[in-house]
Amino acid sequence: MSSNTTINRQDFLKTCGAACLGVVSFSALLTSCKSVYYAQMPVLKGNVIEVSRKEFDAVSKKGEVSIRPFILVEMKGQSFPIYLYRRSDTDYSAVLMKCSHQGNELNAHDGHLTCPAHGSEYDANGKVTEGPAEKNLTAYRVTADPQTITIHIA
Ligand code: FES
Repeated sequence: MSSNTTINRQDFLKTCGAACLGVVSFSALLTSCKSVYYAQMPVLKGNVIEVSRKEFDAVSKKGEVSIRPFILVEMKGQSFPIYLYRRSDTDYSAVLMKCSHQGNELNAHDGHLTCPAHGSEYDANGKVTEGPAEKNLTAYRVTADPQTITIHIA
């Protein structure tokens, strides 16, 4: 016994639309995740966090080295990671990844951050570029020498 299933044009379009949305969402998730790297050995020393400059080096399977545009720094006891962005070899910015709207953790991208809760966006310095957030992110002073990047958290 076989069953005949018919599907009308509207149902077909709904099914295809949902499937396409799932594929797009999944690929967007992969895109946003693939470049996120957490510093492996950040060191908390009083009111500063020290990060080796080598944490920005990304080594491919072939041994080729490229420079990450940003890394995340997460310390034990810290509620939110810090987004550490490389403007140049001597110039960095650091902001707390806590949305100023309602405190959601932000998603990190190359040069900007987005909030998955209500869509606020910030530049790499923590400045609001898209609401509903109105206040900029908590930003930290950053200094760098040839070996170490120092985030001044107080
Ligand atoms: S909590 Fe981030 S936009 Fe609302």
